[in-house]
Amino acid sequence: MPPLLEVEHLTIEFRAQPAVRDLSFTIEKGEVLGLVGESGSGKSLTALAILRLLDGAARVNGTIRFDGRDLLALRSEQMRLHRGREIAMIFQEPMTALNPVMRIGRQIAEAIEAHQPDWSRQRVKEAVLEAMEAVAIGGAESRLNDYPHQFSGGQRQRILIAMALVNRPRLLIADEPTTALDVTVQDQILRLLQDLQQRFALGMLFISHDLAVVAQMADRVAVIRRGLLLESGSRDQIFLEPRHPYTRSLLAAAPTLATDRNLPLATVPPSGGGTKDASAAEAPGELREEAPGHWVREAAEA
Ligand SMILES: Nc1ncnc2c1ncn2[C@@H]1O[C@H](COP(=O)(O)OP(=O)(O)OP(=O)(O)O)[C@@H](O)[C@H]1O
Ligand SMILES: [Mg+2]
Repeated sequence: MPPLLEVEHLTIEFRAQPAVRDLSFTIEKGEVLGLVGESGSGKSLTALAILRLLDGAARVNGTIRFDGRDLLALRSEQMRLHRGREIAMIFQEPMTALNPVMRIGRQIAEAIEAHQPDWSRQRVKEAVLEAMEAVAIGGAESRLNDYPHQFSGGQRQRILIAMALVNRPRLLIADEPTTALDVTVQDQILRLLQDLQQRFALGMLFISHDLAVVAQMADRVAVIRRGLLLESGSRDQIFLEPRHPYTRSLLAAAPTLATDRNLPLATVPPSGGGTKDASAAEAPGELREEAPGHWVREAAEA
């Protein structure tokens, strides 16, 4: 059986400037891959490329296979059938992802109707209520006619999760799904995601700059910087035996997994614009499998 998602040699360029370089990874059915990297490393671009949501300014090369099918080769109508149905996404900005002037019940209903045009109003309504209950929105029936601003930030994020999962996708892309939330709410949302992921055996691409969150969610982890994969491996390989200096510096900047998560997180050190980095960007070292499933990029100068 092919992997659920197989990304090979993905390169994304803007005016011949590469933003993602030769990126390869797979996600098996029911597996969570954490994609970690500082701001601007190409995480969201990668997610958008999988869904083919990048605009014409982006030149995308490589292969992206979902369940063995080459997504980049599909006609746009075929792609539309996959998007939101087999592959769903929770976007980075929860506030902009909901329509502020449309009632919540209608928004969830439209997510269903886009893929189930034959369903009766009653059947759609039942699916909407079921989706709201699955993400623990209390008193779902009485809230169908409410607008997004009548919900808290955490509830809005739950609603987005409900909309993403309402068509029972097999792959969920979650792009920084909790960054905008305070720590307590963040924790509840992560637990909810984890619970749904297991219940539906969802494959998941979980994007975050927060290593503690990734450690909680991911089975495997890929670390990227400036669009380049630097290290990937199982959660234990990355967190207990990090090999690449950049991964180590990220871990040193983050609290240990046992640390109180309510403490403010150390920020990820920026890679800076030094000449050393720039030359490393031009001639990246080779990726090597240093232990089974544990890939590490050689330092360019080595
Ligand atoms: N339309 C565009 N034109 C030119 N460059 C772009 C465009 N979109 C993104 N980029 C560049 O690609 C790089 C990667 O962007 P991306 O949004 O994927 O970063 P990210 O890892 O998701 O960061 P963050 O953690 O801040 O969300 C950035 O340096 C960005 O400036
Ligand atoms: Mg992003």
